[in-house]
Amino acid sequence: MLESIPDIFLNTTNREFRVLLAIENKMKFYEWVPVEEIANFTNYDIKEAGYILSGLLKNKLVHRNISAYEGYRIYFEAYDLLALNAFVKRDTVNAIGDVIGVGKESVVYEATGGITDRHVAIKFHREGKSSFRQVSIKREHLGERKHLSWLYASRLSAKRENDALKKLYPQVSVPEPIDYNRHAIVMSVVKGQALAFTRVDEPQWYLDEVLNQVKKAYRLAIIHGDLSEFNVFINPEGCEIIDWPQYITPAHPNAEELLYRDIDNILVFFGRKYRIKRDIREVINNIL
Ligand SMILES: Nc1ncnc2c1ncn2[C@@H]1O[C@H](COP(=O)(O)OP(=O)(O)O)[C@@H](O)[C@H]1O
Ligand SMILES: [Mg+2]
Repeated sequence: MLESIPDIFLNTTNREFRVLLAIENKMKFYEWVPVEEIANFTNYDIKEAGYILSGLLKNKLVHRNISAYEGYRIYFEAYDLLALNAFVKRDTVNAIGDVIGVGKESVVYEATGGITDRHVAIKFHREGKSSFRQVSIKREHLGERKHLSWLYASRLSAKRENDALKKLYPQVSVPEPIDYNRHAIVMSVVKGQALAFTRVDEPQWYLDEVLNQVKKAYRLAIIHGDLSEFNVFINPEGCEIIDWPQYITPAHPNAEELLYRDIDNILVFFGRKYRIKRDIREVINNIL
């Protein structure tokens, strides 16, 4: 099993980072990057590059293929480190802790960062391992770079989530976007617990809170697109909505359908758990 990101990060040297960066860059041109190219990019000689690569290989940070020539590539483990390194250099992160969430398409770590050492969350996107929903349209443009579609999908996903949070925060109750690099974003830690895993005493009030945030987001031309009791966190003051990479705008051809589905998910949840009945048409008319 792989060690955790924090452990690997601490044990990765600057020379190793340089080699990882070389592979990342050259993967635009090769599915398996030849050792010579890595040596060229890093200015290490072949022997030195080979030595560093064997260490990285042992830690499973690089993968090797020797069928045609000796070539290397990287996957999420190394991309996570490269993104984390960028955050550390910019001081948005100075320590990383435990995993605080695992989603369908992400791994989320707690961390601290910034001048105030505040508590933050780092979300590493994992889009495109099996599904290509975000990039399907763009796949034909990938051309020779099909081997990178999982990476482009994850980067696009992180970018979209960062864009959404930037547009929404602070008018809508969402995590504060702090930094963004490659396929990862740094944001404030969400308060409270997921709606799915709590029981509240004033469900009518919380339902209104959630619908109110959905309405505010819609006013800013953003429809969540994957709203559910798992992506709404509640706390004594109200709620916070997370997980925005699949947002769409009201101009999108499926906007109405997705808004309907978002609201329906929430109403069905409150109906089932708290026996609250609301007419979905009325709720939607109140938002539009
Ligand atoms: N800002 C955050 N603060 C704390 N925990 C978070 C934060 N964002 C996400 N998480 C945790 O990580 C899990 C997965 O994140 P989410 O954004 O929902 O991604 P996915 O698309 O993979 O579901 C969430 O269910 C939650 O438990
Ligand atoms: Mg989620």
